Amino acid sequence: MCGIVGYIGQREVVPMLLDGLETLAYRGYDSAGVVVVRDGELEAVKAEGKLEQLVEKLKGESLVGSHGLGHTRWATHGAPSERNAHPITDSKRRLALIHNGIIENFLPLKKRLIEEGWEFTSDTDTEVVANLIGSYLKHDLKAATQQAIAELEGMYAFAAVSTVSGDAEIVAARKGPPLVIGLGDGECFLASDPAALLAYTKNVVFLENGDLCRLTAAGAKIWDRDGREVERQTVRLTWDPIQAEKGGFKHFMLKEIHEQPQAIQDTFAGRVDFETNTIGFDNFALTSEEAARIERVQILACGTSWHSGLVGKFMIEELARIPVDVDYGSEYRYRDPVVGEGVLALGISQSGETADTLSAMEAASDRGAQLLAICNVPGSQATRISEGVIYTHAGPEIGVASTKAFTTQLTALFLLALYLRQQRGLPIEPQQLSELAKLPHAIADIMDTEAELEELARRYARFEDFLYLGRGINYPIALEGALKLKEISYSHAEGYPAGEMKHGPIALIDESFPVVAIATGSRVFEKVCSNMQEVKARDGVVIAVTDRPAEELSEVADEVIQVPRSSDLLQPLVNVIPLQLFAYFVAVRRGADVDQPRNLAKSVTVE
Ligand code: G6P
Repeated sequence: MCGIVGYIGQREVVPMLLDGLETLAYRGYDSAGVVVVRDGELEAVKAEGKLEQLVEKLKGESLVGSHGLGHTRWATHGAPSERNAHPITDSKRRLALIHNGIIENFLPLKKRLIEEGWEFTSDTDTEVVANLIGSYLKHDLKAATQQAIAELEGMYAFAAVSTVSGDAEIVAARKGPPLVIGLGDGECFLASDPAALLAYTKNVVFLENGDLCRLTAAGAKIWDRDGREVERQTVRLTWDPIQAEKGGFKHFMLKEIHEQPQAIQDTFAGRVDFETNTIGFDNFALTSEEAARIERVQILACGTSWHSGLVGKFMIEELARIPVDVDYGSEYRYRDPVVGEGVLALGISQSGETADTLSAMEAASDRGAQLLAICNVPGSQATRISEGVIYTHAGPEIGVASTKAFTTQLTALFLLALYLRQQRGLPIEPQQLSELAKLPHAIADIMDTEAELEELARRYARFEDFLYLGRGINYPIALEGALKLKEISYSHAEGYPAGEMKHGPIALIDESFPVVAIATGSRVFEKVCSNMQEVKARDGVVIAVTDRPAEELSEVADEVIQVPRSSDLLQPLVNVIPLQLFAYFVAVRRGADVDQPRNLAKSVTVE
């Protein structure tokens, strides 16, 4: 959803910006650009397409300066093109701006600015911000920016550099999309995501909504929405920069799939006491009275995180006996949900910056719900607006298709369900915890079957349509398996509750429409076998994921993917792994860009 990076200090500016942009490329990759300020002049290079195009173009340039900005774009206003790529300058070329977000009142502002004599050469809403600041700019970029943002409606994070600044400076503002400042020794950084700064500093400051900041090599000053200078807390990141590199894997996605055993372990470690069979969290606690007062849990999320919420519903209802609703963030905020005290609103978000999820969380909180976040990014907006946070310890996830964030969310949800159970006076059975402890090994065992999954993917990569079936707690895994396949391989895939197939999708079944069926666990195994039988009776092709011996499925499945057995509530964490790998290998086979699928962005910070 557009990546922003800025640097001011003694280093060579462009290599730092490009390095940051490489990490942020997951946020958008329609075009990219950099600008530096040299001796009071703006020098910008922009290129349509991926970052490599920009890098290629920069080879012929000697772009040096004291400070600069870099941008990678996910188009909202204006098609992907060099003309619409950022940085965008004002028409007097006194400032350059990079932007993430949508300016909702850009049309009336543009009309007014044109009347005032400002020119527009792109189709972007960003150019309105550049010219608006330009219209107020005399000698003080911060003051002009402050005047401009008072007139902007919508959501934005932007950063600007100017030729009129006496001292080298970057001015940035945030309302909605994330912006984080990195503090170094005699240098300052700016980025949309702290992962872009890991190689340079671990001391970061997250801007709050409405904040405006001015960065110089000496440090950062921040003003809040009322124009008061404020101190924001410096957060020390614990992520390792190596985690944001591919580490010998062909793609981030494959690396992140392989990191799951460790990430799951990191997510439950320190929170489970295996001797006393108890659960505790650092940033979230409920007394037994508070736990008893929870009448309902409302889960709010988007995309893959929404799928983990669907699994969480099964976990919380079964273990804590509390009813759970699961909503899309984008749907929840525009209906009239029944919320109030007694509701625990649980936002699930890898990034903690998804606009729809954040708005839904705010809506729930405004109506009196208690707000809890399950989140992967320390200090992100979801964590800041919530009263409690359960961090997933997945480390930075770079591949656009979410994998380790999903399974660590499921781990956190399982812990939360057990914690609610415990605080409501119900005992935690040792077996529930021992199954959790075994998970990392079970998942590592699936990685050992990677070659078989690659071979399976080779045989099925030519198919254009797939149906994924699951029942109960594995229905969301069917949805997630289908989402993984469609988003990275561009094959059409639909997830469906297995029992519902006969009410519609069965009409599609023939030999060209493979069905991936999840047949594990004790409760609905036979039922799913009957559904597979229904597919076979119509000349369909069945790929079964099962924890049973392959012979048991010889009548109903053409292909069998075997997975280790876990408890019914944890089996989804196991079942999703071969589906991630299958999607990955199909996508590679089809020559798709696995880490940066077309049209997608990793964190969607606009509505
Ligand atoms: C985007 C990503 C998905 C992700 C969703 C929610 O659509 O492409 O992979 O699941 O946003 O993101 P979040 O950061 O809130 O989990």
